[in-house]
Amino acid sequence: MTRTVVSVSAVLALTASLPLVGQSDAPGGPVPVALLQARRAALLQTMPRGVLVINASRIRSIEGEYPQDSDYREDNDFFYLTGIESPNGVLVAIQPDSGSSGGEVLLYLTAAPPKRDAWSASRTSADSAGRALTGLAEIRIRPAMRRSLVGGNSAAPQAGGQAAAPVDPMVSVVDSIAAAGGLSRVPSRTVMGMLRVVKDSDELRRLRRASEISAEAHREAMKRSRPGMWEYEVEALVEYTFRRHGAERVGYPSIVGSGVNSTILHYDLSRRQTNPGDVMLIDAAAEWGYFTADLTRTYPMSGRFTPRQRAIYDLVLGTQQAAIDATRPGVTIAEIQTLARAYMKDHSGDLCAPGDCTRYFIHGLSHWVGMDVHDVGPYFTPLKPGMTFTIEPGIYIPGEALGVRIEDVILVTATGAENLTKAAPRTAAEIEALMAEGRRGGR
Ligand code: GLY
Ligand code: MN
Ligand code: MN
Repeated sequence: MTRTVVSVSAVLALTASLPLVGQSDAPGGPVPVALLQARRAALLQTMPRGVLVINASRIRSIEGEYPQDSDYREDNDFFYLTGIESPNGVLVAIQPDSGSSGGEVLLYLTAAPPKRDAWSASRTSADSAGRALTGLAEIRIRPAMRRSLVGGNSAAPQAGGQAAAPVDPMVSVVDSIAAAGGLSRVPSRTVMGMLRVVKDSDELRRLRRASEISAEAHREAMKRSRPGMWEYEVEALVEYTFRRHGAERVGYPSIVGSGVNSTILHYDLSRRQTNPGDVMLIDAAAEWGYFTADLTRTYPMSGRFTPRQRAIYDLVLGTQQAAIDATRPGVTIAEIQTLARAYMKDHSGDLCAPGDCTRYFIHGLSHWVGMDVHDVGPYFTPLKPGMTFTIEPGIYIPGEALGVRIEDVILVTATGAENLTKAAPRTAAEIEALMAEGRRGGR
């Protein structure tokens, strides 16, 4: 088996005999070291005076926690700044002077195991492979946890005379770093949101691939859906397609709702058998290389929309297109949402009489998307090239068992917008044509 990404091959060649992990052997490949270094420099530049701590994830128990959620997934901020997967790692950013390009980033990882671990997949530890993948000249060895903890890696002594919970030795390490510099702790969320809201080239590479895989899965569902199938069968087709293309997991629990279930925004049961007159609303996307798309399509199980379904569909589509057309640097998400609701109101005709259809548009238009499906970042800020967000209008009429949502991942470009999920058919005519093709192909 060969590694597929060779952008840091010269560095990695030096450590070829060591297990290299941290996405280096995952479908997404490694994050280029130069980008990791640029992100850490931006962190120091952006953070106020103080000490900021980013903890890696912990390994979950396959006995005490639900197995389907228990594969190791790195903390987003930790992965963003290091490019590695390393349980219980700790990144400490020290900034003695706000706005300065000085400061320091320290990385603490567990020591390399003395011998091969026959039970667990290998992860990056404090060795030369870790240095090569992160681009850090030094990685410090993290003081060992005294015993494993569930629910976090720091805990206060418990009240009521019970035995004191183990204390993570990293807490005192960070406390002494802060005390030595006369610094206080800086919360990470705002700073990391400011950094992560504009995606760099490697982030966009990952999000594009997650979007392509997600679109392919929606195409499969359209081609292979037949009335009478159960929602879980359609969900299986979608999630199989994600995994077949190297997606590590779903970006969020798949929503596969037919008939009246199409009107439940976060329907996650997938237990109903479909009927010929149903619409099917699928809101599902793949996570690939730590980035997730967010993609919704609505289609008729019969292969042809009824006139009523089509009229509602076209109104949602027109609303979405108006919002995409309005996207460009300088505008805000709030302005685009106002414009979209106005479009829906003005084009409702008597479709939702009495009144217009906006009363059935019961959620927001957009959110940031990236490593998290609802990604971090400030919402008041005007759009800039490299930002990625969803545009997802919907109309949900439970009394008619009719819910329609159309959702795409939109990249802000220098002049406007690029739809990263456009490979999933979006117009009613495109959807019906693909469904007809699926039937002709006998699938
Ligand atoms: N998939 C969840 C959302 O669209 O926000
Ligand atoms: Mn969304
Ligand atoms: Mn969605």
